[in-house]
Amino acid sequence: MKAHLPDAAATEALARQFLAALPDDTAGWTLLLEGELGAGKSTFARALISFMGHSGPIPSPTYTLVEPYQLPGRIVYHIDLYRVSDEEELRYLGWTEMEDGFRLIEWPERVAGLAETADLIVRLAYAANGRDAEISSLSPRGEAMLARLVAQASS
Ligand SMILES: Nc1ncnc2c1ncn2[C@@H]1O[C@H](COP(=O)(O)OP(=O)(O)OP(=O)(O)O)[C@@H](O)[C@H]1O
Ligand SMILES: [Mg+2]
Repeated sequence: MKAHLPDAAATEALARQFLAALPDDTAGWTLLLEGELGAGKSTFARALISFMGHSGPIPSPTYTLVEPYQLPGRIVYHIDLYRVSDEEELRYLGWTEMEDGFRLIEWPERVAGLAETADLIVRLAYAANGRDAEISSLSPRGEAMLARLVAQASS
């Protein structure tokens, strides 16, 4: 699914649509957020976390690597791999202990092979005016979610 996002509000609106297509139980789900510096990854992540019911600040996980959120009905792990360079560090992060939550990962390209265990990827890119987004599925349940998102967008 592709979308043009003329401004940051459009990126936030896409996060709202994305949430509407997600199942209630997202334990063990992984969403990758790809895009160069300033493409809008954190804008999307923050919007998603706040629409999931978080009020208050959403600090960048650039230095802490993981910021966990206990939200109504789900746990979210907001992860930023910008400073992570290999899988060893990822294990140190407690990767396997995050199976109870929804993992939202910025800079997934820092660790090889993440796409194989993820459900969905949002790719953000600079456009002449604003940004372009492309959402793809990486698993069967991700594919079902994407079909709901496309159906929603066209209705
Ligand atoms: N669709 C859009 N059009 C124009 N500007 C946008 C859009 N989406 C986000 N922005 C703006 O781009 C800037 C960078 O956004 P953001 O911090 O979310 O990017 P990022 O991908 O997380 O960057 P980094 O890689 O540095 O963490 C912010 O000022 C944000 O408001
Ligand atoms: Mg960011």
